[in-house]
Amino acid sequence: MTTTHSLSVPAIGRRSFALWGGAAALSSIAQRPTLAGPAVPDATRLHVRPARVPLAGAGHPETLMWTYDGTVPGPVRRVRQGVPFQALVENGLAEDTTVHWHGMRLPNAMDGVPGLTQPPIRPGGQFTYAFTPQDAGTFWYHPHANGLEQIGRGLAGVLIVDEAEPPPFDRELVWPLSDWQLTEDAQIAPGFGNRMSAMMAGRIGNVVTIDGRVPDRVAVRAGERVRLRLANMSVARTMALRFEGHRPVVVAYDGQPCDPHEPADGRILLGAAMRADIVIDMQGDPGRRYRVTDDFYGDRMNYTLTELEYDPGAPIRKHPSDAPVRLPRNPLPEPDLATAERHEMALQGGGMSGMGMRSGGMMGGGMMGAMGRGGALWAMNGASMTGDSPDGMPPMLTLTRGRTTRLVFRNETAWWHPMHLHGHSFKVLARNGAPVPHQVWGDTVLVAPREVVDVAFVADNPGDWMLHCHVMDHQTAGLMTVLRVA
Ligand code: C2O
Ligand code: CU
Ligand code: CU
Repeated sequence: MTTTHSLSVPAIGRRSFALWGGAAALSSIAQRPTLAGPAVPDATRLHVRPARVPLAGAGHPETLMWTYDGTVPGPVRRVRQGVPFQALVENGLAEDTTVHWHGMRLPNAMDGVPGLTQPPIRPGGQFTYAFTPQDAGTFWYHPHANGLEQIGRGLAGVLIVDEAEPPPFDRELVWPLSDWQLTEDAQIAPGFGNRMSAMMAGRIGNVVTIDGRVPDRVAVRAGERVRLRLANMSVARTMALRFEGHRPVVVAYDGQPCDPHEPADGRILLGAAMRADIVIDMQGDPGRRYRVTDDFYGDRMNYTLTELEYDPGAPIRKHPSDAPVRLPRNPLPEPDLATAERHEMALQGGGMSGMGMRSGGMMGGGMMGAMGRGGALWAMNGASMTGDSPDGMPPMLTLTRGRTTRLVFRNETAWWHPMHLHGHSFKVLARNGAPVPHQVWGDTVLVAPREVVDVAFVADNPGDWMLHCHVMDHQTAGLMTVLRVA
């Protein structure tokens, strides 16, 4: 029996990699260069179905998972900015599903939220999603039905929207990152919806994969400039990645370009659902190896994700490239702060929050009704929407279409929350009142315990949009609401 208590799972280290992965072959998760082609619609099919997948690698049983097209993660979909995209989704599961195109600014009816934007896709049923990507960048897709379990069993994939004219890099790597809770026989551990996890950090696993395998090494060449697309598709795990001996430059978060900058402390912080595009000049020594580590949870929970292994050959260039790395801006409307509507979103509940224990607080008298609904453990502004969709609850706010909304997340809890808004990208303005540099935009913002984070966006996309924590256990247990743009 694997425990699901989030803070007592064994740390992942090279030792447990040996346990799970063994001698993974020298792996380079390389992607082909940008497709250049005629402007015909990008059409694809996605078959949602169970499959056995070699997640833990050679020497271990295959893992029975829920997949898109039989692979974990689902296939990387590459589409073009401004070119219509269509996906026919067929549900081969024994339960309802949908596909949500996380981070895309698309028409509400294509957003994939069952009971809000579409009926669920029943077992054996199908649904066609069609939209035209407005923004180039790194996005992802996943179900919005029983999301904790469906993502936790494998349903997630990267969606890349290529720039019309991509800036030059020597190579592009895509790292779909996922965290799994595996049993000793390499199967997905049961216990989704464990109350203890839900009150705390969520379902944190014991195996982290890159592109569906436990990676030993990633091959690189001295001198090359790599664009690395990172996507944290975990149900709950936050990651803080460091590249030993290297100076990664962040050029985009959540698909939206920012001012190129080295992250504070050299640490790339990615809450669940967040993406970062980084540029790394491979200035290490030929033949050497450099560790990529994740030290977010500290101490016993630190682990080495993989190693960059340099080819012994001579550097492909003498000096680092001095070509600019800035990505072209997407057509996002700039928020007008002078006329913004300001709304505060208090994040409440969870374990050890003080509030949760106080009589008359979240778990006490006044909140009991809301907290009881669907087993809620969390709330926003005192209200809890549980599960995967609003299920009849009215929107918390109605935003005036075309106006700027300033959302202030006030985290009153003792836990981290990657807060995600559908249908829009927001600008991250301030943390605890201090301006955020580098023009950072996102669809998901990681809010630290007790932190206050201001974001703003033009509410230009009509419809009902989910706003929720992307720690799936938190979402399911009440950290979710709906904003209406009308
Ligand atoms: Cu990644 Cu509500 O979604
Ligand atoms: Cu989303
Ligand atoms: Cu949360």
